[in-house]
Amino acid sequence: MIVLKTSRELSVMRKAGKISQKALRLAGEAVEPGVSTWEIDKIVRTYIESEGATPSFLGYSGYPASACISVNNVVIHGIPSKSIILKKGDIVSLDIGAYYEGFHGDNAWTFPCGEISEEAQALLDATEQSLFLGIEQAVPGHAVQAYVEARGYSVVREFVGHGVGAKLHEDPSVPNYGTPGRGVRLMPGMVIAIEPMINMGKPGVQILDDGWTTVTKDGSLSAHFEHTVAITNDGPVLLTQLD
Ligand code: MF3
Ligand code: CO
Repeated sequence: MIVLKTSRELSVMRKAGKISQKALRLAGEAVEPGVSTWEIDKIVRTYIESEGATPSFLGYSGYPASACISVNNVVIHGIPSKSIILKKGDIVSLDIGAYYEGFHGDNAWTFPCGEISEEAQALLDATEQSLFLGIEQAVPGHAVQAYVEARGYSVVREFVGHGVGAKLHEDPSVPNYGTPGRGVRLMPGMVIAIEPMINMGKPGVQILDDGWTTVTKDGSLSAHFEHTVAITNDGPVLLTQLD
């Protein structure tokens, strides 16, 4: 069931989105060689709680941390750990949600750790660009797929974007692949998280024994960018942004 949001609810969601975006930026600034992903998670939790919000992911289906921190070939759901120390050249996806006054914001960004290869930078640029194309057209499937496949990358199929609101995951699901004109018709009041997960190599992924960490099957690099977007009469509006 798709839950439409009133304009009053959207203004609360904008606050949740803003806290999520601020947390993502603070965490992104902490991405540096020698820092552990556990330390970054701590920054996220401390900031979100300082705003009177709670980290959306902490305890969600038993997830043990506030952020998902996915390095290099890890696609999504990397669990922060004191033993994962960032190195120069890593690409680091941070996925962060904040729950505030009854609503969630959800966003992700892949940050370079120090200087990264040109190849890795091109993957980040293309994935970021595909997110904004998806938002512009608010029909992410085809927009994302056509853009990244033309560059030789591939779209992860097993995980998709989603509706977001009082629950972190609501209907509809928002795939990053598909045929133009198919799927759920977007309506004003819908709020969706658009989140392309793009691999440099083949699309296949695999979940490790911890039940969360999702890696590329072929070991290739993967990037992930996400925004929470409201569909309005005036077009798509980003909720996960600062003023
Ligand atoms: N942004 C991710 C998602 O929308 C994060 C979920 S991690 C979880 O699926 F721990 F909350 F599941
Ligand atoms: Co999401």
